[in-house]
Amino acid sequence: MEKFQHVIAQIRTMYGEDRSFIPLHEPLFIGNEKKYLNDCIDSTFVSSVGQYVSEFERRMAEYTGASYAIAVVNGTAALHLSLILAGVQPGDIVISQALSFVATANAIKYTGATPFFIDVDPKNLGMSAEALSKVFDQVEVTAGGSYYKPTGQRISAVVPMHTFGFPADIETLVSLCEQYNIPLIEDAAESLGSTYMDKHTGTFGLLGTYSFNGNKTITCGGGGIIVTDDEELGRKAKHLSTQAKIPHAWEFAHDMLGYNYRCPNLNAALACAQLENLEKFIANKRETAHQYADFFLQTPYQFITEPSDSRSNCWLNAILMESREERDAFLKASNEAGVMTRPVWNLLHRMEYLKDALHDDLTNSIFIEDRLVNIPSSVRL
Ligand SMILES: Cc1ncc(COP(=O)(O)O)c(C=O)c1O
Repeated sequence: MEKFQHVIAQIRTMYGEDRSFIPLHEPLFIGNEKKYLNDCIDSTFVSSVGQYVSEFERRMAEYTGASYAIAVVNGTAALHLSLILAGVQPGDIVISQALSFVATANAIKYTGATPFFIDVDPKNLGMSAEALSKVFDQVEVTAGGSYYKPTGQRISAVVPMHTFGFPADIETLVSLCEQYNIPLIEDAAESLGSTYMDKHTGTFGLLGTYSFNGNKTITCGGGGIIVTDDEELGRKAKHLSTQAKIPHAWEFAHDMLGYNYRCPNLNAALACAQLENLEKFIANKRETAHQYADFFLQTPYQFITEPSDSRSNCWLNAILMESREERDAFLKASNEAGVMTRPVWNLLHRMEYLKDALHDDLTNSIFIEDRLVNIPSSVRL
């Protein structure tokens, strides 16, 4: 459509006029990836035991500043284990946001808990502290836990998500959870390298999780990391991810229900190589975001910028259109022109299999769902 040609032309100028297709986010392998993978194959340690798994963990702990990092198969498994580690039980409530990728809700459902989807803050697209506070107004704190009075269920965790890499208002959320003695788990799948007040997202709560899926800022094919400062939780995370096997030279003894969630050495090798370029990629993505911000100032569309006091990794850039109709027209025009754009996820409370979940009025989430479009955001080197 004629109306959007200048936006499409700008994206083409930034990502290459000659490209017939511009993806939303593509991985980039310009470092030691092949070297480390070959090394891994030569060693024959390709599965979940190997030097790259512990090296991946060591580097992630060093990079994020967390005391412990545990490598698992993906970000969804990282969330699932974290919820178990936080003590979530079937029948509990876990508070999260309706504006998130489905993995956040699925991990909650795996535990048998009920999600309670609350609204997001339009300043950062992360969980709204005001919405959380409103739910907490209806909570009774007892020696056995914090209970949501309208249903009588225990609230056993709060899971905010740092949407598209923008840090949520995480200090306020943490302090609210502390007041009600409820563990907070950060879904930092999208925000590796993003910081709030110079501290890494993922390291504010009891546990934090990251994803290294192919569409993320850096990837290892498939992989995830759990971080925590709690030594016991760190030890237990590794134990649960390795089928809860009691270490022994030949005995097969397992002391609880465990999971085959340990990250394979091959994926960890790729992750180690990608981590070496993470800061370079983030600097590049931030420059792209600045260029987009300047450009969109001359348009009717609002380019979403990082909240104050934070550094975003600028994983996925996003604009807000004026209406759902305009959003759909732009999605059609850009995708037909070979420029990949995507709407935000369907709000989670709308999924048929999640219809039993609780939710608040979700005013901001619905506004954003109608208008937001993600635009190409890959590293440009
Ligand atoms: C917000 C969010 N949570 C969780 C995940 C799950 O990560 P993975 O795909 O590695 O399982 C993703 C992305 O894929 C995500 O975007």
